[in-house]
Amino acid sequence: MNRRSMILGASAMAAVATNARPVCALGSRALTYSEAEAFVWRPLDASGGVSELVRAATLGANSHNTQPWRFMVSAQEITIGADFSRRCAAVDPDDHHLFASLGCAVENMVEAAVLLGFKVEARYEHTSQDRVTISIDRSPPSRSELADAITKRQNTRAEYDGRDVSAADLNTIGTAGTLDGVECLLVTERRRMDAILDYVVQGNTAQMRDQAFMAELIAWIRFDDNMAVESLDGLSARSSGNPSLPAWIARRLLPFVMTEKGENDKYAKHIRSSAGIAVFAAASDDRAGWIAAGRAYQRFALQATVLGIRHAFLNQPVEVPSLRPQFASYMGIGDRRPDLVVRFGRGPTLPRSLRRPIQAVIDQP
Ligand SMILES: Cc1cc2nc3c(=O)[nH]c(=O)nc-3n(C[C@H](O)[C@H](O)[C@H](O)COP(=O)(O)O)c2cc1C
Repeated sequence: MNRRSMILGASAMAAVATNARPVCALGSRALTYSEAEAFVWRPLDASGGVSELVRAATLGANSHNTQPWRFMVSAQEITIGADFSRRCAAVDPDDHHLFASLGCAVENMVEAAVLLGFKVEARYEHTSQDRVTISIDRSPPSRSELADAITKRQNTRAEYDGRDVSAADLNTIGTAGTLDGVECLLVTERRRMDAILDYVVQGNTAQMRDQAFMAELIAWIRFDDNMAVESLDGLSARSSGNPSLPAWIARRLLPFVMTEKGENDKYAKHIRSSAGIAVFAAASDDRAGWIAAGRAYQRFALQATVLGIRHAFLNQPVEVPSLRPQFASYMGIGDRRPDLVVRFGRGPTLPRSLRRPIQAVIDQP
């Protein structure tokens, strides 16, 4: 069965998984990008039960949109574990980002629970699998701004409008990002933001000179809409603010349009148009700490979304190992690891990234 031959009902939009790959379809035809986007990011449905908890989790931020998670679901609990077949060895050799991505998924599930009528408790299990178990009980559903924001949050890789964020809003997002021993440091002073830009530029330059990094990144770029809707993962051109182009043309153009100078200039514009930069540092530099950092970022991002504040990752200073200690020292966090770097401010939205359906990520217990 391929995606074109799937018939899923005359007018029903659906995302399911065949044995070969995930499928997003409207009746017998594949969805357009914007149809898939609307379907993936449809509001959470309180009548959807435990499945909606898993769907909420899959809407979490995740490195390169690899969606590196597997779920096991029973009536009493959901476990989230790593899908190491989706690890990114070049950018993330110790799986830091992979476990931070699991943390993002866990936090979405915890926040969604209120709206979906569940009482949940997340517990990290340090086993050979290093997974998180979420125990679930029924409880009356209630409204939650953070839960509503799950289907609105996005990494907005656009230029912002340069406006400041009020002290009250800074306090609200900073508090939301302080969780489970993770510190959320907010930098809004221009001089310090320029210093962080220097780290981003150094990191980006090193990464763009690293063939393995570039090959891995390009493998996860979905240059045209068909590629994106077919795989339902990866970095779609549209969600990075670029046009959809046939992959064979885009690959040839890439060396001319994605240059070191061009990318570094873009990051300078991105940081200078932002109101501030948030740096997350967990209490421990291990998988439990990385999951906690992901949870803290996700909560920060949901709260920012509630307030109409956009955000986007700029992780180069924490991804290039030789820069990380210098960056930690600049941020004054002693021997803790700086986990994640995120700029924020007011600005436009961009097309959203896509997700595979939950059927593609659930294993039978
Ligand atoms: C641990 C982690 C690291 C990330 N690093 C970067 C990054 O350095 N640059 C970037 O543009 N996006 C980065 N992202 C954002 C992902 O690419 C993004 O979450 C994914 O494409 C899905 O898009 P969404 O967050 O808009 O749903 C990162 C996300 C996570 C969770």
